[in-house]
Amino acid sequence: MSIVKGKVALLSHNPTPLHYLPGLSQDLFREIYIKRDDLTPFGGGGNKLRKLEYLLSEAMEQEASLIITCGGVQTNHGRLTAAVAAKYGLKCIIVCIGDKPDEMNANLLLDGILGARIVIKKDDGRDTGLQMTEAMEIVKTAVEKKGEKAYVIPMGGSNATGFLGYFDCASELDEQARARHIDTSTVYVAAGSMGTYLGLYCGLKAIKSNLNLCGIAILPFGDSQKKRLHEYFQEVKELYGFDFDDSDMHIETGYVRNGYNEPDQTVRNAIYKMARTEGILLDPCYTGKMFAAFLDMIGEKKIKLGRQCILMHTGGFPGIYTKEHRLLFEQELQDAITVIE
Ligand SMILES: Cc1ncc(COP(=O)(O)O)c(C=O)c1O
Repeated sequence: MSIVKGKVALLSHNPTPLHYLPGLSQDLFREIYIKRDDLTPFGGGGNKLRKLEYLLSEAMEQEASLIITCGGVQTNHGRLTAAVAAKYGLKCIIVCIGDKPDEMNANLLLDGILGARIVIKKDDGRDTGLQMTEAMEIVKTAVEKKGEKAYVIPMGGSNATGFLGYFDCASELDEQARARHIDTSTVYVAAGSMGTYLGLYCGLKAIKSNLNLCGIAILPFGDSQKKRLHEYFQEVKELYGFDFDDSDMHIETGYVRNGYNEPDQTVRNAIYKMARTEGILLDPCYTGKMFAAFLDMIGEKKIKLGRQCILMHTGGFPGIYTKEHRLLFEQELQDAITVIE
């Protein structure tokens, strides 16, 4: 099933590679693969480019001159939006809630290099999503007074349009998995604003794929998140006419570890393991957390011996350079340096 909607082809080397991970497979007694959506070609790469293919197209259809989006101060989505806006000649403003960090590092630094403007609104203690929506409206009104035509992208690009990026990716992945005879694997993916998870879920269902999907919540996933995911599903189901329900959704919620983007030793250990076994860099907020959960689930025997597994690498490596993560990595890695006379 394909949904016809305009898109700007940003992924010049689509499909992204699906690699076998021999060292990890041998070490963990499972057949492990990785889907390299971090190797997408703009702004350092990552999952948001698939969503932006559709969002950017909609922005251009509406003749927008400027894109406004939002996220945490270290949003990967903001960085990638800044990159594609730059490439297509649009201005970009990223709205965040919180305090101005004492360092302009990691994604924030890249946002600046890519020419985006960052607006940080002080947290007044109310719901962050609500504050972001309000702040984006204020920014929109202000820029439109100056003659800009603004196109607003919600957090993580997770709306019915952005959803289509990973809806498409499901067919791409299924085809790759079938070609390698691993089409009954379980796919593990980090779930934040949920557009990636939901797109894959619906995309796999729509083509009756044999792949299983397991989302790993990277932020507390309580009743309000469950409700939001269900509503998001209902929205796309009605809009695109799906004939399946959301009863097969599987999101692991027990590996959040201290909350969104909080430094965590187990996640850093998982990052070291992937880096030192396969030479692949993960990030501390999303993919490292997903992989740490995967390792725990193996330890807890939730993933059977010999099972075929596909890890979705959704990008995000600049997060390693965020001060709170970087300083802990630095402390742990001092022994890596030897000085000789
Ligand atoms: C690197 C990375 N992986 C995974 C995700 C989660 O994707 P989603 O927000 O669509 O759930 C994000 C979201 O920002 C991300 O930046």
